Order: sequence, then C-alpha cells, then structure tokens
Amino acid sequence: MASLFFIFLLLLLPHLHVHGSLNTETSFHQNYEVIWGHDHVVFLNQGKEVQLTMDNSSGSGFGSKMAYGSGLFHMRIKVPNRNSAGVVTAYYLTSEGSRHDELDFEFLGNREGKPYRLQTNVFVEGQGNREQRLRLWFDPTADFHSYRILWNQHQIVFYVDNVPIRAYKNKTNIGVGYPSKPMQIQATLWDAESWATNGGKTKTDWSYAPFKANFQGFDVSGCQVLTPNSKICSSDRYWWNKQNFWQLDPVRQTQYERTKHKYMTYDYCTDRNRYPQIPLECLESSN
Ligand SMILES: *[C@@H]1O[C@H](CO)[C@@H](O)[C@H](O)[C@H]1NC(C)=O
Ligand SMILES: *[C@@H]1O[C@H](CO)[C@@H](O)[C@H](O)[C@H]1NC(C)=O
Repeated sequence: MASLFFIFLLLLLPHLHVHGSLNTETSFHQNYEVIWGHDHVVFLNQGKEVQLTMDNSSGSGFGSKMAYGSGLFHMRIKVPNRNSAGVVTAYYLTSEGSRHDELDFEFLGNREGKPYRLQTNVFVEGQGNREQRLRLWFDPTADFHSYRILWNQHQIVFYVDNVPIRAYKNKTNIGVGYPSKPMQIQATLWDAESWATNGGKTKTDWSYAPFKANFQGFDVSGCQVLTPNSKICSSDRYWWNKQNFWQLDPVRQTQYERTKHKYMTYDYCTDRNRYPQIPLECLESSN
C-alpha cells in the first residue's frame, strides 16, 4: 500500500508544482541577490522573506543570480498598502542588452481605498506595447498571493493564484515575435508617478513613505542557461516543457476566459485607437 501511495504521489508531482503551494523555505540568498537600493532591502525570517522599501531617496530591487531559458517561475508577493498611488511593484523576467525580451507583472498602486491594477506586458526584441490590465478579485495588500510565469517553447502563461490571466502563444509561424533570450528573474519597487496611476495624473504622496512590498518563495523551477546558445532548455526532460504544458487544459481555458471577461480593464488587443489594425498575435479567438 505504502509503495502504491508513493507512486501515486510521484504521478501527482508535476501538477503540484504548478497548482500546489510553492516552497517558502528556500533562502533568498540561494538564488537571488540585491541589484539596487541595498540599504532599502530588509531580510526577514532568516532570508525566507524579503521586504523591498522605497522612500524619496531610493527604491530597491533584486534579481536571480542565474539566467533561465524556460521554466515555471513564481513569487509570493504582498504589495504596499494604504496610499500607493504612483508606486509600482514589479515581478518580471528580462534579458540583458539591447533588443531585449521581457515578461512583466506590474502592480500599479492607487490612492487609499482605490483598487490596484495588475498590468502584464510582453516584450520581444525590445518591442513591448502589449499591455493588459486587470483588477484583482482580492486585496493584494492584505496577504501574500502567488504570481507565476510559465515559459516554454509553446506558450507563456501568467497565473494569479493558479488562475491563468494571460496566455501568449508561440506564433512565430505567422511572424509574431516570441521571447528566446536567456532571462533573469527580477523584482523591483519604484516610483512611476509619471504614468502608473490615472495615466500619471495622480502622483506619489511621499508622506506615506516608506512604501513596502514583501516577497516569499525563492525556490526556482527554471532551466539555467550556462552558455548563451543553450538549446537544452526546450528539452522535455524539464516538466514545464512536457505536452500538458503546451496549452491550457479545458478547465483552465474556461477559467481564463471567465477571468478576462470579468476582470480585464484594458487590453491592447481591443484598443483600436492605438492599433487600427488588430495585432497579429491577438487574432485567434482562443487567446
Ligand atoms: C525626504 O523625506 C524626508 C523624510 O520624510 C524629508 O525630511 C526630506 O525633506 C525629503 N526630501 C526631499 C528631497 O523631498
Ligand atoms: C516557436 O515554435 C517553433 C515551432 O514549433 C519552434 O521551432 C521555435 O523554436 C519556437 N520559438 C521559440 C523562441 O521558442
């Protein structure tokens, strides 16, 4: 019986990785380092939690020591509370150098009592302008929630607490760009009063500083890129590259469509003022 149970667990494991709880025991220092605002970063609980702070002298940020070529990346985040207008908490993957690739979660702060917006964006070869924004079905300042980015050769999926909120498919066959460069994981807390809240009309109120964002979950499920042209990262020896991650299963697809319908407040795909022609990657209705 015991061994049968064990086999059962093994079969479940790949799913637990995506949909289960993530490991909050890994110390920050194992996989990450501070990249900006060293004196504005606070380590809590033996480095199992990190707090980024921002005041009128500096924001702060951290990044992974390694670059990755595929993976299912995650972070538990609690964003600044009270009056956070102008303040952006970001969790993203980014490549180095010019014509960079980037996959973003950006929490756009708001005046006290007004809801945050969660913005996502996809950059390929330095070309972004693919913003989507949603309101959340919970208060992201009250508790930690998990935010994930799946990236394999077939699709990029942004998840909030296991709910897919965005899927970006590999449509290189019809000429749409798809991220291919090794990317580092980063998280930052910064002043974006020029654009983040009300299109930049609502400014940061420094009397509420220091602003604080907390992070947990420093284990990484990603393919480390040791050489610039590593092809190994698309191998199905990595569970996130296996066929069940090539597209959303029917349950998640339905969840995705419902969530978009109910919570999305802006989608570049439907912004005809900005894009008189529908961007190619937006064409398929299943996205
Ligand atoms: C920054 O904040 C401190 C503390 O609130 C204040 O004393 C200082 O004048 C501020 N500096 C600027 C440049 O606004
Ligand atoms: C996109 O998909 C094509 C066809 O499956 C594949 O050859 C290519 O490597 C993929 N591109 C990226 C950047 O993963």
